Amino acid sequence: MGVPQPAFYIFKCEQSSPPGMPKPSCVNPQTQDLFQHLAQTLMQKGIIGTVQPIRTSCMNRCNVGPIMLVEPGHVMYAGLTKEKITQIIERHIIGGEIVQEYVISSELWDEAISPEAMMKQMGR
Ligand code: FES
Repeated sequence: MGVPQPAFYIFKCEQSSPPGMPKPSCVNPQTQDLFQHLAQTLMQKGIIGTVQPIRTSCMNRCNVGPIMLVEPGHVMYAGLTKEKITQIIERHIIGGEIVQEYVISSELWDEAISPEAMMKQMGR
């Protein structure tokens, strides 16, 4: 048997903007330890070997940050706190149920456009 691939990847936006910048960002003094909380909780549960947390840069949903994306499934969670991250791990990652109340609004996260369809739209 080969080395198993992860069951989930969790992409946590770790972008911060300098103080005074008008654009909101996912990391500020109040939210800077969320990635650590995510990784520590996965470790405490003993599942970090199959759930890979990944730091990313901006995913263009800053206004509703902090955000993180769970794959597979394209599930984007917004407005995160430590408590919400713990719930997402327990209910979605372990329990298998998407935590709908923390999912980003569909207005901000609508169905994906396939690359082929996008090329057609652009006339290429
Ligand atoms: S800074 Fe996190 S989505 Fe833009």
